[in-house]
Amino acid sequence: MRTFDTALTRHAGIEVPIICGAMYPCSNPELVAAASEAGGIGIVQPISLTYVHGHDYREGLRLMRRLTSKPIGMNALIEASSQSYHQRMIRWVNVALEEGIRFFVTSLGNPRWVVDAAKPFGGIVYHDVTERKWAEKGLAGGVHGLIAVNSRAGGHAGPKTPEQLMDELGPLGVPLVCAGGIGTPEEFRHALSLGYAGVQLGTRFIATTECRASDAYKQAIIRAEEKDIVLSERITGVPVAVINTPYVQRMGLKAGPIAKWMLRGRRRKKLMRTIYAIRSFRALKHASLDETGEKDYWQAGRSVSGIHSVEPAGDIIRRFAA
Ligand SMILES: Cc1cc2nc3c(=O)[nH]c(=O)nc-3n(C[C@H](O)[C@H](O)[C@H](O)COP(=O)(O)O)c2cc1C
Repeated sequence: MRTFDTALTRHAGIEVPIICGAMYPCSNPELVAAASEAGGIGIVQPISLTYVHGHDYREGLRLMRRLTSKPIGMNALIEASSQSYHQRMIRWVNVALEEGIRFFVTSLGNPRWVVDAAKPFGGIVYHDVTERKWAEKGLAGGVHGLIAVNSRAGGHAGPKTPEQLMDELGPLGVPLVCAGGIGTPEEFRHALSLGYAGVQLGTRFIATTECRASDAYKQAIIRAEEKDIVLSERITGVPVAVINTPYVQRMGLKAGPIAKWMLRGRRRKKLMRTIYAIRSFRALKHASLDETGEKDYWQAGRSVSGIHSVEPAGDIIRRFAA
C-alpha cells in the first residue's frame, strides 16, 4: 500500500491521511479500530461508545486497543452549556490520555483546556470549524490543525464549499483537513490536490461491515442520491443533513413553533438546547439501530452519491490509498 507524508499523517502518526470521523450514534469500537488498523485513524465518540453501544468508557477504549495497536483518536464536543456534561468530558479526555490516545478532534466551544491537558503527553488537537471566525477562535485556543467542515458534510454541515474553505483558512498557516462529501477515491484525490493535508469521512464509513448501524440505514445510504439529502432542524434545533425519507417528510424540516419560541429567550434557549440534546440522543440511537425503519431519521451527507456497497472499512482505506 502507498504511504503518504502530510502534516496530518505526521501529527497523528498514521500512514494514510484519512480520518474516520466521530459519529453519534454510528461510531462503534469495531469501526473505529478497523479504520485505524488499515492505516487511517478512527475517532472515538464517547457518548456513542457508552450510551449507544453500551461499553464502559475505559473498557471500550481497551477493547479497541486489543483490536489494533495503531493510533486512535477521540472527539471532544466541548460545548459547555451543562456543567455536569463538561465535567464528564474532562474525565473522558483524561481517561483517553491515560489509555494512550494522543489525537483529539474538538468541536464547538473553546478547545484550550483540551490542548493544555494533551500537551504534557505530546497530544495533538484538531478543531472542527465551518468558517474563519471559528477557526480563529480555535487557533487562539492553541489547536494544531483545523477540520474544515463543508456544505456537503453529513452531521452539522457548514455553509461553504471545500474550495472556499481552503481560500479562507489556508492563509492561517495550519494543516487543514477536508470534511464533507468524500465518498470516492477521486474525491479524496481532489481534496489533496486543493492543498488539504487529509480528509475526514463520516457517511462512507456507515456503509461498512464493521459499523453497527442497521442494515436498513446502510441500504438507504446506498440507494440515496445527492438530491435525497436535506437539512432538518427537527431533531437537534440546528440543521442536520439527513436522508429525505417519508418519515422526515412527515415531520417537516423546520423546528416547531414552541421550539422556535423557546430558542428565542436566553434562559429558555438553554433549557430548549438541553431538551433537544436529550431527545436527539434518544431518537438518533433508536433510528440507527432499528431494523424496521419506522422512524427512519438517518443522518448522511452528500457523499451518498458515490457509495454503492457495504464494504469493510479497511478495504475503503486501502482502495483510497491506492
Ligand atoms: C451520522 C453522523 C454522525 C456524526 N456525529 C458527529 C459527532 O458526534 N461529532 C462530530 O464532531 N462530528 C460528527 N459527524 C461529522 C463527521 O465526523 C464528519 O465530519 C462528516 O461526516 C464528514 O462528512 P461526510 O459524511 O460527507 O463524509 C457526524 C456525521 C454523521 C454522518
